[in-house]
Amino acid sequence: MSSRVFKLISEEAHRQKYGLEMIPSENYTSEDVMKAMGSILTNKYSEGFPKARYYGGNQVIDKIEIYAQDLANKVFGTAHAIVQPYSGSPANFAITLALVKPGETLMGQALPMGGHLTHGAPASYTGKLFNSVQYGVGKDWKIDMEEVRALAKKHKPKLIWVGTTAYMFILDYKGFAKIAEEVGAYLVADIAHVSGLIAGGVHPSPVPYVDIVMTTTHKTLRGPRGAIILVTKKGLKKDPELPQKLEKAVFPGLQGGPHDHQTAAIAVCLEEVLEPSFKKYAEQIVKNAKVLANKLGTKTYTHLILLSLEDYGFGMGYQAQYALEEAGITINKNTIPGEPASAFYPSGIRLGTPALTTRGMREKDMIKIAGWIKRVLEEIRGLDLPKEQEKRKDFLKEVKGKLRKNKNLKLIRKDVEKFAGKFPVPGID
Ligand SMILES: Cc1ncc(COP(=O)(O)O)c(C=O)c1O
Repeated sequence: MSSRVFKLISEEAHRQKYGLEMIPSENYTSEDVMKAMGSILTNKYSEGFPKARYYGGNQVIDKIEIYAQDLANKVFGTAHAIVQPYSGSPANFAITLALVKPGETLMGQALPMGGHLTHGAPASYTGKLFNSVQYGVGKDWKIDMEEVRALAKKHKPKLIWVGTTAYMFILDYKGFAKIAEEVGAYLVADIAHVSGLIAGGVHPSPVPYVDIVMTTTHKTLRGPRGAIILVTKKGLKKDPELPQKLEKAVFPGLQGGPHDHQTAAIAVCLEEVLEPSFKKYAEQIVKNAKVLANKLGTKTYTHLILLSLEDYGFGMGYQAQYALEEAGITINKNTIPGEPASAFYPSGIRLGTPALTTRGMREKDMIKIAGWIKRVLEEIRGLDLPKEQEKRKDFLKEVKGKLRKNKNLKLIRKDVEKFAGKFPVPGID
């Protein structure tokens, strides 16, 4: 093992073990998942789908892919599964290509309001190539179903997305289904963030209400990076050709050869999801998130917390992310609904409990962590983002320098490292 890369992997392993990983879309996958991911299956080409491949030698690959599909349908109670998407964004793009022609209308939740880029954000090809209509959230940070209905009736989208990346409430899948039926749109649930909670039975499932479901496999589901597209029984009844349309959009529409090592690792992950211990894991994620939210002065119903830092000053997300990083706590800066500062230097942070829960942390640990977070945030009070755009870069450089030398942050980091180091991380000694 002479490659410089292995030294860097050791460095990253140290960071993962001695820090607190609180980005809500991240997790620690199991050693078995990593074994499948790092297996000889990476050597094979298998363009096409099981029993219909372009290359020879796919007898075993077919068995693996069919097994992964069956497990996915079993976990989510769906009719058809496609396990080949390389990740969530290509999966969503494939779904879009299958259902909407360039120039036609789709509808999704706006990115700065908790939606995902691939649901029609202007920066994404889903926003550039299609006529994208975006709904938001109200002052209470909740989706206003009357706004969704009014926009759907006005613009008649062919596809409606329901699914979020920074949202603390339970989505009204039934309400979305009514609206989609009223305007004759396909309804797709993007459950990337909450799929592990759904599989663990601690979050309602959209499957009875929507036509298609997309999930990434690396977030709360705790598998390898990847994604699954699922057709529900309702979707199949509405359009019996949906499985073929979606498969064609994945290959040859968008992708080439599937990553067979990734498919195998998804199957291993889904076997783990079917173990009774996964239900306990999912329950604990939400229990932990609720305690953490409460201690930070807010409330959540899922695995994540979107925290406004307006009480600490103007445009504090970047400063908070950096200060917390200095203290060994990894979160991400995030816009808050109605963002008063800037998309790039936003007013909030997003954090969650899936990864910490995998390490075995519980409610009492969340109380301790919330205490550290609050102490760190006190260190950025007064470091408000300049209102003048041209001053921001220099200001943030100066802030970084100050925070790097901050003695209180260094003390907290010591405590965090001592604490985190006691909890195991799969694959790291
Ligand atoms: C709701 C949602 N959909 C899709 C994606 C895209 O997944 P990936 O990063 O694997 O492309 C994400 C990832 O952040 C997400 O949160």
